[in-house]
Amino acid sequence: MSPESEETPSLPSLLIRDAHIWTENRTIRGSILIEKGRIQRIARKISVPADEEILAQGLVALPGLVDAHVHLRDMRLVYKEDFTSGTSAAAAGGFTTVLDMPNTLPPTDSGQRLLEKARRASKNILVNVGFHAAAVGDRAEVKTMKMAGAFSIKLYLPKPIAPLDIGDDLTIVEVLKAARQASLPVTIHAEDSAQIERTGEIRTFKELVGTRLGKAETRAVSRILRLQKQIGCRIHFCHVTLPSSISMIGNWRSGGLSSEVTPHHTLLSEDSVEKLGWKAWMVPPLRPRHVRNRLFSEMAAGNATIIATDHAPHTIKEKRRPPAKSPPGIPGLETAMPLMLTMVNKGKLSFRRLVSLLSTSPASLFGLGSKGRLREGADGDMILVDMKKKGEIDPDKFFSKAHYSPFEGWKTQGAVHITIVNGSVVYSNGEITGKPGSGRVLRNGIRG
Ligand code: NCD
Ligand code: ZN
Ligand code: ZN
Ligand code: ZN
Repeated sequence: MSPESEETPSLPSLLIRDAHIWTENRTIRGSILIEKGRIQRIARKISVPADEEILAQGLVALPGLVDAHVHLRDMRLVYKEDFTSGTSAAAAGGFTTVLDMPNTLPPTDSGQRLLEKARRASKNILVNVGFHAAAVGDRAEVKTMKMAGAFSIKLYLPKPIAPLDIGDDLTIVEVLKAARQASLPVTIHAEDSAQIERTGEIRTFKELVGTRLGKAETRAVSRILRLQKQIGCRIHFCHVTLPSSISMIGNWRSGGLSSEVTPHHTLLSEDSVEKLGWKAWMVPPLRPRHVRNRLFSEMAAGNATIIATDHAPHTIKEKRRPPAKSPPGIPGLETAMPLMLTMVNKGKLSFRRLVSLLSTSPASLFGLGSKGRLREGADGDMILVDMKKKGEIDPDKFFSKAHYSPFEGWKTQGAVHITIVNGSVVYSNGEITGKPGSGRVLRNGIRG
């Protein structure tokens, strides 16, 4: 039996009263009634009784955030993160839906393995989870992965997840064709391995970052764009770090191309690597300050399609190894929203853009038509945000197993107060209130 076909025992109704509700592009004062996991009504006043009520005075109601790029790990990597800890981190960060990457142990490289992951996830998740699948050479398997519910085919250019000769354009063309045939987008980690220079001894994280310069991204983006022109499939560029990549990729509504930026690449620069070492080591690495500033401007201007966290947890023990042996990646689910709300409060990012980048656009990009907007009939995924609440990034308080962050100590203003998934409160004021199983496994093309 597939996981989503299990009947949810009659869900209690929930009434959120007197919130500032973000509807498409403005806020209205009113109430939201969620019944059977769906938004039933949004109105100035709702007086029907509900099983549970939340008085949301002073809070802003937003559609639940959607993170299209996370690494929940689990399976044989539970020591880094598991479905429960990772989705608890998501809930605390305001993310009601996350899409998990396939570079796990075992990797998500067949329909069978995707279903195994989904089965295991269904009992353990607090927010909704969908899966990306690895690029493989076998076209029939791509179809099978699509049938199993995959949201995209992930092509990891520096080092393919499943064995593929990615130096050869014909291999890439075959992957793009298989994805097009299965009506799936290709998600790409665009760094050209030939441009990653592993020469000499690497003693510092700064030297390590110096081996992966922007030209590796530029090369990979231009190569993929050139091949995409021949094939015409949909391509999503993960975590791009250069303003020039954003311009090359352009607007997804016209060309079937989309771009993703992360909070760390738009808010941090190489200076952090020098100061923090392993805590600021991820791939692609952080860029010079002027590049970071322009990337943030591109994002704020609406030229990037989405924000994703690339939540990539590792243990501190692994991270503290000598630079060349330290795994790249930082947790991001619990820092993204407070950081971006702080930017809104500082007047550097509009509220409308924030909702679009973190919810509406990722939902529509990955075919989650019933998510990403607060409106009647939509899924009961929403958050209540306190724009005034001040805080400080404290990795000790993370629900993620990865208790480190390059943002440690940053002062924030604006916080997620309550997270609601499928109509039930899974996070409230610093505490996880949901249970493993509150979230659903999402299958591409099928309404959860
Ligand atoms: C990711 C991971 O650890 O899985 N690491 C990272 O630095 N971003 C892999 C990736 O997304 O490239
Ligand atoms: Zn990547
Ligand atoms: Zn990643
Ligand atoms: Zn409260």
